[in-house]
Amino acid sequence: MVPVPWLNFIGISTQTHDKAQRSLRRLTRPTHFSTDAGTVTKKSSPANPDLGGITRDTKRLVPDHRGLDEAASLLKSGQLVAFPTETVYGLGADATNPQAIAALYAAKGRPQFNPLIAHIADHADAEREGRFNPLALELAKAFWPGPLTLVVPRSENGTVCDLTCAGLDSVGLRFPSHPIARALIEKAGRPIAAPSANRSGHISPTESDHVWSDLSGRIDALIEAYASPVGVESTIIACLDTTPRLLRHGGITQEEIFEKTGLRLHSMEGGAVIAPGMLDSHYAPDARVRLNAQSVTAAEAVLLFGPVSIEGADHAKARLNLSPRGDLTEAAAHLYDYLRRLDRIGCQAIAIAPIPDHGLGAAINDRLRRAAAPRS
Ligand code: TXA
Ligand code: MG
Repeated sequence: MVPVPWLNFIGISTQTHDKAQRSLRRLTRPTHFSTDAGTVTKKSSPANPDLGGITRDTKRLVPDHRGLDEAASLLKSGQLVAFPTETVYGLGADATNPQAIAALYAAKGRPQFNPLIAHIADHADAEREGRFNPLALELAKAFWPGPLTLVVPRSENGTVCDLTCAGLDSVGLRFPSHPIARALIEKAGRPIAAPSANRSGHISPTESDHVWSDLSGRIDALIEAYASPVGVESTIIACLDTTPRLLRHGGITQEEIFEKTGLRLHSMEGGAVIAPGMLDSHYAPDARVRLNAQSVTAAEAVLLFGPVSIEGADHAKARLNLSPRGDLTEAAAHLYDYLRRLDRIGCQAIAIAPIPDHGLGAAINDRLRRAAAPRS
């Protein structure tokens, strides 16, 4: 059995996890790889049989009524549709359909198993899928719709399939505030599983062009809209007992949570694993990422924050500032786009100036640490 420390941390046995992993392998094996809706073409002898070689015609859809109707019917027939949310663009699939979820994993090239967030369109749908204790209800009331994911025990009459939850007894639920995301989920009439719409390990997408460059030819449609305003993924809190646990820093800050609810979240300090993938290289550009840089060489690009520059920045290969006025909200909104832009230049490394660790800085620094983590 593969050790999965974060599962133990949140009090879940790894037994069910393994069962679901086997079922994922079965479903993504290329010879069994077809969905009700078809459109899967296989290339010969893919190097990694779990991923298959996939080519699909990717439609670009406009987010008007017609576009959203088409997107919803694609989702209902088991196909994959990328759509904007307030945090990042998501790659959507019917969370109740294991075939669709298996196709989603393959399209992302996600080699490992990791539960997906089910996106719902209102509080009632959330409470049908999960069991909300008073703590979860309070957080949902305070921050939904918005960039918060709640991990709660699955309910008996929930519709989200095992594969979406990676075989766990809990489910990650998010009620997004983005009007296009909400309209799409409502029209689809079922929970929509949506990880960030990027190839596994790549930088998350905050613009439709980012999704296109990562996933065109691997998904069925992309709803094109404006840039995601928050720019980092949702905050994830597990409410499995009376202790709220922070599983991922994100768009809702710990300060906001305390201000609105008086709750202090428990988390594991000192860089220990608190969510799947936390130790892995993630959100990674091709260039090496160097954190807390005090100076930069001419072979490097530099990502600055605030009005203060760092030594050598004027002669760096490229220079961008996440927020010249030192605003962390603006910095979060620019983070992934600027990393992509600097990466395109083809530099030896991207040097990152220090970024304060409070407010949204916690999420920004978390993502940067993972971008800088050793690549496997
Ligand atoms: O902002 C977001 O959350 C974006 C947008 C598209 O909504 N989605 C997103 O999904 O970031 P993804 O797959 O990149 O990250 C989802 C994370 C997983 O890494 C997993 O750790 C956690 O959610 N998760 C989901 N269900 C869970 C569960 N039952 N227990 C523990 N963690 C869970
Ligand atoms: Mg992601």
